[in-house]
Amino acid sequence: MSQFLTIAMPKGRIFEDAVQLLIKAGYELPPEFEDSRKLIIDVPNENIRFILAKPMDVPTYVEHGVADIGIAGKDVMLEEKRDVYEVLDLNISRCYLAVAGLPGAKIKDVSPKVATKYPNVASTYFREQGEQVEIIKLNGSIELAPLIGLADRIVDIVSTGRTLKENGLVELERITDITSRLIVNPVSYRIKDQRIDELVNRLSNVVGSVI
Ligand code: PRP
Repeated sequence: MSQFLTIAMPKGRIFEDAVQLLIKAGYELPPEFEDSRKLIIDVPNENIRFILAKPMDVPTYVEHGVADIGIAGKDVMLEEKRDVYEVLDLNISRCYLAVAGLPGAKIKDVSPKVATKYPNVASTYFREQGEQVEIIKLNGSIELAPLIGLADRIVDIVSTGRTLKENGLVELERITDITSRLIVNPVSYRIKDQRIDELVNRLSNVVGSVI
């Protein structure tokens, strides 16, 4: 019997792309993957347990070893800086991190406010630009902040660009491109190397074939 694997999956935006990639790689997933509120889904025939986590928490589960493997956006990896191996660019859920704001808005000279779900990424970026800013951490609906005067700018994910457009915001600077990554707990990689290598190989073979 092959070793048991626990995989942390990100709920939300990336989930559907990740499921499609696993199916393409030949994993037989049960119907619960389509529409379920379950947070733990066991797939006995594959000897895999999936745990469904908030995207920002996936690297935490993997770092602590309660998941051997996880699927996490590069945005989350940059923000969280967890002690995990990033072994494969899955090339799914492509988007980018950008600075955005209201068009033509006059930015305060001293410590303009930047609202974001990514305080570490945003502070590093502005420090590298030589700009001193005040970071305001929000957990979602970041685009609201400049509209209601909470912040001068935002740092957030842009995918289709629809959220910016529909809220009258414009992209000001592009920070970095983002795709989802396969991450692995370092101890799991040692003790379950064959099983993990097999998964990595199967996924590598189909990366690029799922958008
Ligand atoms: C993300 C991101 C933007 C939006 C970008 O939000 O924070 O708001 O998607 O996508 P678009 O360019 O295709 O419009 P998400 O839906 O994850 O929810 P959130 O606002 O709660 O973070």
